[in-house]
Amino acid sequence: MSRQILVTSALPYANGPLHLGHLLESIQTDIWVRFQKQRGNDCIYLCADDAHGTAIMLTAEKLGITPEEQIARVKAEHERDLAGFLIRFDNYHSTHSPECKHYSEEIYRRLDANGHIERKDVTQLFDPEKQLFLADRYIKGTCPKCKADDQYGDNCEACGATYTPAELINPRSAISGATPIEKSSTHFFFKLGDFENLLRQWTSSDALQPQIANKLREWLDAGLHSWDISRDAPYFGFEIPGAPGKFFYVWLDAPIGYMASCANWCEANGRDFNEFWGVDSKAELYHFIGKDIINFHGLFWPAMLDSAGFRQPTAIYAHGFLTVNGKKMSKSRGTYIKAETYLEHLPAEYLRYYFAAKLSGAVDDIDLNLEDFINRVNSDLVGKLVNIASRSAKFVHKGNAGKLASQQHNIELWKRVTGASDAIAELYEQREYSKAVREIMALADATNEYFDSCEPWKLAKSEDTAGQAADVASQCIDIFRVLMTYLTPVLPELAVQAEAFLNCKLTWQGEFSPLQDHAIEPFKAMMNRVDADKVAAMVAASSDSSTATAPAAPVKTKVKKAAKDKDTGIADTIAYPDFAKIDLRVAEIIDAEAVEGADKLLRLTLSLGEYGERQVFAGIKTAYTAEQLVGKLTVMVANLEARKMRFGLSEGMVLAAGPGDQEIWLLSPDSGAKAGMKIQ
Ligand code: 2FM
Ligand code: ZN
Repeated sequence: MSRQILVTSALPYANGPLHLGHLLESIQTDIWVRFQKQRGNDCIYLCADDAHGTAIMLTAEKLGITPEEQIARVKAEHERDLAGFLIRFDNYHSTHSPECKHYSEEIYRRLDANGHIERKDVTQLFDPEKQLFLADRYIKGTCPKCKADDQYGDNCEACGATYTPAELINPRSAISGATPIEKSSTHFFFKLGDFENLLRQWTSSDALQPQIANKLREWLDAGLHSWDISRDAPYFGFEIPGAPGKFFYVWLDAPIGYMASCANWCEANGRDFNEFWGVDSKAELYHFIGKDIINFHGLFWPAMLDSAGFRQPTAIYAHGFLTVNGKKMSKSRGTYIKAETYLEHLPAEYLRYYFAAKLSGAVDDIDLNLEDFINRVNSDLVGKLVNIASRSAKFVHKGNAGKLASQQHNIELWKRVTGASDAIAELYEQREYSKAVREIMALADATNEYFDSCEPWKLAKSEDTAGQAADVASQCIDIFRVLMTYLTPVLPELAVQAEAFLNCKLTWQGEFSPLQDHAIEPFKAMMNRVDADKVAAMVAASSDSSTATAPAAPVKTKVKKAAKDKDTGIADTIAYPDFAKIDLRVAEIIDAEAVEGADKLLRLTLSLGEYGERQVFAGIKTAYTAEQLVGKLTVMVANLEARKMRFGLSEGMVLAAGPGDQEIWLLSPDSGAKAGMKIQ
């Protein structure tokens, strides 16, 4: 029977754009949800914008618009960016919604009726000009310890001291600059201490990762304080029933936004809200969050749900923070990368894959190392995975009229690949995506090795053995289908392209059976290599130029027009870093053919071993026949920008010497070199 599952990721504040840190969570959650759906479970993914609070109110004021206009604008941007990263929600709602108002008021009334709300007077700093109570981050002043000026109300960035805003020397409102005064008002508190037993039980259940459970236990042992859930007007939020001028604190209605999004979705889809939230709900409920907000989800939220008569979450799944190139994201380094900026430069699936290759079920931080990102995507996705299909397709088309063979050529490998299904599924279930990806890539390696060892390009040369080449290629393509099925939750767009190429759906339910006697389409390029220049341009576009310390974009060296040294005939000296940009590799010529309509050109298919294959047009037909070249090792420029020629795309250049015509000699390494090796 299929499971009924409700999944949420944390609600982004409607106060600014999403960055790659947000995307780490959305991608982690989306992969899990897509996996559940692919396996046939009734899984619903909900989110919303977190639309209340002082910050949003002040931003709107600064922009001269209403908070409602501000949150509508930001919500549209968030939805656009999330869709750009292929995050497929069943519903994306807002906490500033009738449903959220309804459930916030209802939950508050129940907590109050159960005696879990207390009222206490609190003295706080108040901006007499703006007539506004000031949260700590809206107060600035001189550090009482080191006397550094312009420090926030709770800690000093210069010496690290922590203090209360009242201790600041010469405090002032960060909003108006006025000197704050102390003022008292009544606040509403949720008596968290009443829920100690429930929370102790919860922390020893398996709803929490061990690291999170330990942290919560520490808080429980230190003693639970009542939680201040009210803010005084002016505040953008919901007014507390029966308490004019008092509003729910943004964090009170934020998780209720999960319910609101669900209620809104249920209404539109004819489903029953209680099926998901009632105390007797049979559905599973998971909240994916960052480790910075576990107190809200691990303490307040279960207590509120309990008192208000709703079910408990099945589990909270927390992830760590994102760093870029080993450091906190920073505008001056160009590593504070907005979702929008990324998408202007690079396809979403590169990042989805990279995050998947790094994510585990633990709360560890994840590093996006941009160089590793380029290498990983190029080597795994282009060089290993898509390579299987691109190198195999032509042999099926040439050797078996575009149909996959009617029998298996390597049953052992097929069994190994399909036999990994349950283990890979379990890794997805446990959010151990990096292990799943490693396993899938090991299978891709084995498939490429099998292809190489059979040398179908040689088999295809003779009529007698061309059928065998098609058999090998068919086997590889069928395995490609299974590997793409495993990767569909991570790479949904590539999966759609693979389905079009394979002429079949990628389903992952039950056992895999071989696809035989089945017509496939001609192979079309599915994924390009990551262009390092685009990554550099993304970093440049993300850097705050006023504070940049180093140029983020590659420096272009001007090439002089007369590039010859008059005395020696040797080209002008180039700097080592420029030379180092040229990626020279050993390549095996696995296919060569004359190009119709071109006297001098041969179309070469070059294998770079684990880095995939390239098509290169080389002007060497006057010196070599196609037959002389197949099987030969040579040297190619592997990172040359692809050029569109009249006959097709040329993806690199082979190195040859000589004046021309018959006198052209292709460079070749000594024996022992292997395709793909870098020329050092
Ligand atoms: O930390 C944040 O960005 C919050 N807006 C997350 C809210 S999650 C949930 F509780 F709504
Ligand atoms: Zn200080």
